[in-house]
Amino acid sequence: MRRPVRIAVTGAAGAISYSLLFKIAAGEMMGRDQPVILQLIELPDAMESLRGVAMELEDCAYPLLHTITLHDNVEEGFSNCHFALLVGARPRGPGMERSDLIEVNAEIFARQGKALNDFANRDVKVLVTGNPANTNALIASRNAPDLSPSQFTCLTRLDHNRARGMLASQCGVTARDIQNIIIWGNHSPTQYPDLHHATVFGVPAMGQIDTAWYRDQFIPRVQERGSEIIKARGLSSAASAAQAIVDQMHNWSQGTDPGEIVSMGILSDGSYGIQKGVFFSFPVRCNYGRYQIVHGLDISDFSRKQLTATELELLEEKSVVEHLLPKETEASHMNLTICLKSGVTLYADGSGPSAESKFMNNNRVL
Ligand SMILES: NC(=O)c1ccc[n+]([C@@H]2O[C@H](COP(=O)([O-])OP(=O)(O)OC[C@H]3O[C@@H](n4cnc5c(N)ncnc54)[C@H](O)[C@@H]3O)[C@@H](O)[C@H]2O)c1
Repeated sequence: MRRPVRIAVTGAAGAISYSLLFKIAAGEMMGRDQPVILQLIELPDAMESLRGVAMELEDCAYPLLHTITLHDNVEEGFSNCHFALLVGARPRGPGMERSDLIEVNAEIFARQGKALNDFANRDVKVLVTGNPANTNALIASRNAPDLSPSQFTCLTRLDHNRARGMLASQCGVTARDIQNIIIWGNHSPTQYPDLHHATVFGVPAMGQIDTAWYRDQFIPRVQERGSEIIKARGLSSAASAAQAIVDQMHNWSQGTDPGEIVSMGILSDGSYGIQKGVFFSFPVRCNYGRYQIVHGLDISDFSRKQLTATELELLEEKSVVEHLLPKETEASHMNLTICLKSGVTLYADGSGPSAESKFMNNNRVL
């Protein structure tokens, strides 16, 4: 048996976690041979409810579930964790503006970033789900000066999966027959679900669907899917969000299939002309526990307009929390370039092989 990995989860008594924790304990995220320690974190008021969830986890007698610990503070809860799933967040209350929501969450995620910086394993991988996910990820990352910004991501895999599922229904195939969907930008209604590189049975998707359907129905439907579910169910998406968290972390830690593209919210390194310094959903491939942006994709004029709209929204969100972003991490967040080639990760700070190294000239992605 391998050594267990430590997975910290905030908002562990909430709706998403009620699906998520059982999937992790069953081995869906880290693999069927990887024992896990669950470090569950909640607000003090929700500890009793969390105890109930822990009892249920225990009652499932999962062979891979090594230990469960419960915490009412992130400093203790993040201790030595290898993975941190930041699910808990303040929901939007009555009369609250979007900017108020961004600000109250900014304080929560600033504290979480500091706690990760001080207590998590040095190689921790962080996934922010709590909304506004992209800007929360930025705040957490900016508050963790000793970690690399590349260790932080936000969840846009749910949007990716939604787009994949909807296209499959439209084409009368199953999701496994659909590849290379891309979600660009913010996890919000300005996101851009891009089918220009997608395939159905290996054949370009755009040749198999009506362009008017794609622009007038598919795009807005993916963008507004969260609200559509709230309207129908009376509650926000939880099980599908849990599945998306499992998928994103599984790919990040275990890799993507050869040739497969997935969408992940990561710090922009300027790729595709997106301004540096914001968390933006890009097409990526993963291997060796690292992600790499897929470069060289054609961006049409239509796509460029969509990318710009979602980029502007993220820049605006950033301006709302600018005063909470420590200056000391500005440079590391404005100068990140990550390029994973042949298993070697090259950082802009000069670590890793030199630019002349054969790895730089070899355009092979493992
Ligand atoms: N990025 C995405 O794709 C996506 C998808 C769905 C939901 N979400 C977001 O995920 C978040 C959680 O959704 P949910 O349905 O599980 O909500 P929920 O309200 O059911 O649960 C949230 C839990 O987080 C806890 N919490 C709040 N602040 C906390 C803190 N500072 N530390 C620890 N725990 C804290 C609450 O006590 C609650 O139990 C929401 O912000 C939601 O908007 C994001």
